[in-house]
Amino acid sequence: MMALSENDTHGLGGERITHLAPNEPDVSHGTILYLEDVTLSFDGFKALNKLNLTLDNGELRCIIGPNGAGKSTLMDVITGRRRPQEGRVFFGQNIDLLKRPEHEIASGMVGRKFQRPTVFEALTIGENIELTLTGSRSPWRMLRARSTALEQARIDDVLTTIGLNQLRHRPAGVLSHGQKQWLEIGMLLAQNPRILLVDEPVAGMTGEEVARTAELLVSLAGSRTVVVVEHDMAFVRKIAKKVTVLHQGSVLAEGSLSAVQANPKVIEVYLGETPCSN
Ligand SMILES: Nc1ncnc2c1ncn2[C@@H]1O[C@H](COP(=O)(O)OP(=O)(O)O)[C@@H](O)[C@H]1O
Ligand SMILES: [Mg+2]
Repeated sequence: MMALSENDTHGLGGERITHLAPNEPDVSHGTILYLEDVTLSFDGFKALNKLNLTLDNGELRCIIGPNGAGKSTLMDVITGRRRPQEGRVFFGQNIDLLKRPEHEIASGMVGRKFQRPTVFEALTIGENIELTLTGSRSPWRMLRARSTALEQARIDDVLTTIGLNQLRHRPAGVLSHGQKQWLEIGMLLAQNPRILLVDEPVAGMTGEEVARTAELLVSLAGSRTVVVVEHDMAFVRKIAKKVTVLHQGSVLAEGSLSAVQANPKVIEVYLGETPCSN
């Protein structure tokens, strides 16, 4: 696929692209994210090296790779946190993410969950979600302002999705580590991202929490695109559809988990240890 320049008003087939809201990606060709020859260097060291990646709209993609492969740097580029020296990054066919500030990408385009949960423990679970809807308002102002019925419906929706509706009036501090991770996913969902990036979502979770997280992430794909960066191969096996293996800043292999596992190049970079066992 070729990405178009931002002010191009014709699709690849020459048809007119019509009626897209300002930050609405054109996914008429099925692609939500397109990276071409992306290179990002730190003092001459290429953390990303001519990386190419295409995500289909609504897919669930797992990204794996040894330490230092460039996974976090890739997430930094997609979210606008770091800018590559070379390459192109398009959201749909029409939006050049390299021209968008990080805060704009974060609101409604790409939501990113970091490893460590950052919920407000003294606020209730419902208030934590509410806070993300009200944007940059402080918790104190948020608590004084009443949210609209529409916002309440959205909060209900998110709480049901993440399975914490029963606990909505409890302070977030009472939640287990796994529940806090779900709450944080909920805080991202409230902002309605088209792409959800989650970095090692199951680190430190109990077996039951891992299973529920797998179900949650699988259920979130379809209506949005979900990207999971994960070291836990047992977890990847539970959720994987298509897997991308990064190595030295480039895509080493891509395909089904079993195809990737059988790929000699993949086996080699994991130095004999099967990348997808345990
Ligand atoms: N801020 C930085 N300055 C210099 N080198 C960095 C920086 N961030 C990451 N790197 C290097 O870039 C490479 C990729 O890092 P990273 O994207 O964090 O890999 P991963 O998340 O796959 O473990 C590593 O070799 C790392 O040491
Ligand atoms: Mg990392």
